Amino acid sequence: MKRESELKEQVKEFWERQSCDTDQARSTKFSREYFEEVERWRYAHQPFIHSFAQFTRYRGKKVLEVGFGAGTDFIQWLRAGAVASGIDLTQEALENLSHRIQIYHLPPPESIRVADAENLPFPSDQFDLGYSFGVLHHSPNTERAVEELVRVIRPGGELKMMLYNRRSIAVFNVWVKQALLRGRPWRSLRWALWHHMESAGTKGYTRSEILRVLSRLPLKDVQIQTEATLIDQIVGSKLFRPLNFLLRFAMRLSDRRLGFFHCISARKTAS
Ligand SMILES: C[S@@+](CC[C@H](N)C(=O)[O-])C[C@H]1O[C@@H](n2cnc3c(N)ncnc32)[C@H](O)[C@@H]1O
Repeated sequence: MKRESELKEQVKEFWERQSCDTDQARSTKFSREYFEEVERWRYAHQPFIHSFAQFTRYRGKKVLEVGFGAGTDFIQWLRAGAVASGIDLTQEALENLSHRIQIYHLPPPESIRVADAENLPFPSDQFDLGYSFGVLHHSPNTERAVEELVRVIRPGGELKMMLYNRRSIAVFNVWVKQALLRGRPWRSLRWALWHHMESAGTKGYTRSEILRVLSRLPLKDVQIQTEATLIDQIVGSKLFRPLNFLLRFAMRLSDRRLGFFHCISARKTAS
């Protein structure tokens, strides 16, 4: 237990330093241009987020976003007219999102606050949609965080979350750099993710591991769409360009099974 709380503290410290994607902005922090740069970058490189989240379908619906980070997706819920609530582990994320809402004169969210995904401060069976993108694999007890997200969704409501794929080109790249090229090829993909992907203790899951976890929860219609990201290619030299061309082709043929992002959706059953 102590180890988990120490690890969570490290995760928090990491994300307090900088919220996700904000390293892409060059303009003054919290200026309109800064947020524009973050948003432009995110949806240029991860356009599939729109087809996954389908923000505009949630007008008037109660949405909870867990781990809103800099708030780029969260403001889409507000723009779409959703009744949106959100939590993040860090004050930094809350400040990013609060400034963003002010700058764009967006309608106020129902609630945004600092809280822990593993202990959500909401009663059960509340939300039409529970959404979490690239968050729960950072929390020490990911299964507990998934259970919490499902708990607060109303029966008949939807779950949408993105978890990292351990068996992806992205993780293989990290393994090559941190394990193979440093003379320790016996290290695993799990190790590479845990020690060298963003905050300490990051995890990644195979499709069958995700299905196993979700099968224990009151869910039906589980779907996993895997997406390739900017880091699912061989980096380091222009010489790899032809290889990357082939890789992209193979990715398309294999329905991007080796992509880094598992975009998971499901519906909560009446348990
Ligand atoms: C990779 S960022 C993703 C942020 C945002 N969802 C996005 O896609 O840009 C991970 C975020 O998860 C948050 N986080 C990590 N563990 C958490 C926890 N236990 N509870 C709430 N938020 C958490 C971090 O503070 C950070 O903002």
